[in-house]
Amino acid sequence: MKQVYLDTFGCQMNVADTDRMELLLFHSGYIRTGEMRDADLILINTCSIREKAEQKIYSLAGSLKPLKVANPGLILGFTGCLAQQEGERLLEKIPFVDLVLGPDGIEHIAQVVDEVKEKNGPVIRTQFDKEKNYSIPELSGETPLHPGPSAFVNIIKGCDKFCTFCVVPATRGREKSRKAEEIEQEVRLLVSRGAREIILLGQNVNAYGKRGMRQVVPFHELLYRVAAIPGVERLRFTTSHPKDFTRECIAAYKNIDNLVNHLHLPVQSGNNRILEEMRRTHTVEEYISLIDELKSAVPDVALSTDIIVGYPSESHSEFEDTLALMERVQFSSSYMFSYSPRPGTPAQDFLDSVPQSVKSKRLQRTIELQNRMSRELGQKFVRQEVDVLVEGGSSRPGIDFRGRNPQYWSVNFTGDRKQICPGDTVKVVVEEVSGHALRGRAISVNRNGKRLTLGEAPTATG
Ligand code: 5AD
Ligand code: SF4
Repeated sequence: MKQVYLDTFGCQMNVADTDRMELLLFHSGYIRTGEMRDADLILINTCSIREKAEQKIYSLAGSLKPLKVANPGLILGFTGCLAQQEGERLLEKIPFVDLVLGPDGIEHIAQVVDEVKEKNGPVIRTQFDKEKNYSIPELSGETPLHPGPSAFVNIIKGCDKFCTFCVVPATRGREKSRKAEEIEQEVRLLVSRGAREIILLGQNVNAYGKRGMRQVVPFHELLYRVAAIPGVERLRFTTSHPKDFTRECIAAYKNIDNLVNHLHLPVQSGNNRILEEMRRTHTVEEYISLIDELKSAVPDVALSTDIIVGYPSESHSEFEDTLALMERVQFSSSYMFSYSPRPGTPAQDFLDSVPQSVKSKRLQRTIELQNRMSRELGQKFVRQEVDVLVEGGSSRPGIDFRGRNPQYWSVNFTGDRKQICPGDTVKVVVEEVSGHALRGRAISVNRNGKRLTLGEAPTATG
C-alpha cells in the first residue's frame, strides 16, 4: 500500500475531515503514516480562522520543500479553509503544491489525488457541493474505524450566521444537515467499536434540521434520539449559537440523564454595541437570561465560551463589559482571542482601530480573569468524587491516566494500570487544582455497569 501523511490545523471539524480523508484514501490504497519522509502523499488540512493559524501553515509549507525536491513523485496537497480561501493564489505562494481542495470537496479527495497523477500537474478544487443532502455514507458502513472512548459525529456542515469577523461561511459554505438515521447508524457503529462518549459536531449545531433534510428533525429531538442509543454513556455537542439555542434544549438537559452538564456557548463580547457590530443577532441580556434559565434547570452546569477582544472600535469601557459578563456567568473555561482581520469578511473593511499593544493587554486581562475563575471553580471539586471517562494513559510524572468529568474538566489521576483502561468510567477523588485541570486518585471503576472497588477488581485485560 502507498502511504499518506495527514496533518491537521484548526477546529474539530477539521479533525473530523482529516479522519474522513484517511478513510477514503484507505479505500483507494493509502495507509496513514506518522513519518513525513515515508509518505507518497502529504496532506495538510488547513485553518484560516485567524492570521496566526495561516502563518503557521505557510511556515510549515517552507519546511516541506526539501521533501518535494528529494522525492519529485511525492504529491503534496493543502486542504481545508486556507485552501478554500486562497484557491489559485496558494499555487503562487507555494509553487510546489500539487493539490488544493476546499472543505466542501473533502469527499472527493481520492478522485482529486488520481487527477493529479493523471494530469501530472496541480489540481485545484474549490467549488461548493451542489447536493441538496449532506451525507457521509462511508461512515455508516463496515469501515476500518478505530474510535477512542470519545468520538465526534458530524451532524451539520457550513454556517449561515455570517458574523462579520468570521471566514467560516465563506470557506465552509451554507448550512446543511445530515439525516438523523445516518447519524444514528454511525453512533451505533462507533459504540460497537468502543466509543462511550459521543460529541455531536457542527459549526452551529442548534441550526440542525433546518436545511438539507426532507423531514425536519429539530436539534433537541436529535439529542433524545442519540441519547437513547444503547452504549452511549455520555452525550455532548459543540458548537452552539445563542440565537438558535432553544428552551427545548434546556428541557433536554433536564430530561436526558446521559446529556452531560456542560455547555459551550460562544458569546464573543459582553457589550451590546459590539455584539451588533459583530452581527451576533442577540444581546447580552438575552445571553444572560438563557444562561440563568439553564443554571436553574441544571444547577451544577459548567459553561465555557469564546471571546474576542479588540474588535474594530471596541472602547476600553466596552471591553470592560466583556470582563463583567465573564464574571457574571462564571465560565469554567474560555477560548480567548484578539481580533484579527480576515480576507473577505465584512469586518475587514472596518478600521482595525485598536492598536496591537492594546489588544494584547486586553487579551492578557481576560486570560488572567479566566485563570482566576477556573482556579476558584476548580476548588469546588477538591475532596469531592467525580466520574471520569478515561481517555488514555499519561506519561507525565506522578500521573497514570487522563480523562474528563461530565463538566468537561480535564482530570489527571493516579490509579492501578493493571485495573484501569481507556473507556472505563472511574471514580476519582479530587485532591487539587493544577492549572486548568483537576488532579486526584482513582477509587473505583465502573465497567459494563458494574462498580469495582480498586484493589479488588480483576485486571483490565481480563
Ligand atoms: N479574529 C479573532 N477571533 C476569531 N474567531 C473567529 N474569527 C475570528 C477573528 N477574525 C474566534 C471566535 C470563534 C472562534 C472559533 O474563533 O471566537 O467563536
Ligand atoms: Fe463563524 Fe459566527 Fe458561524 Fe460561528 S456562528 S462559524 S463565529 S459565522
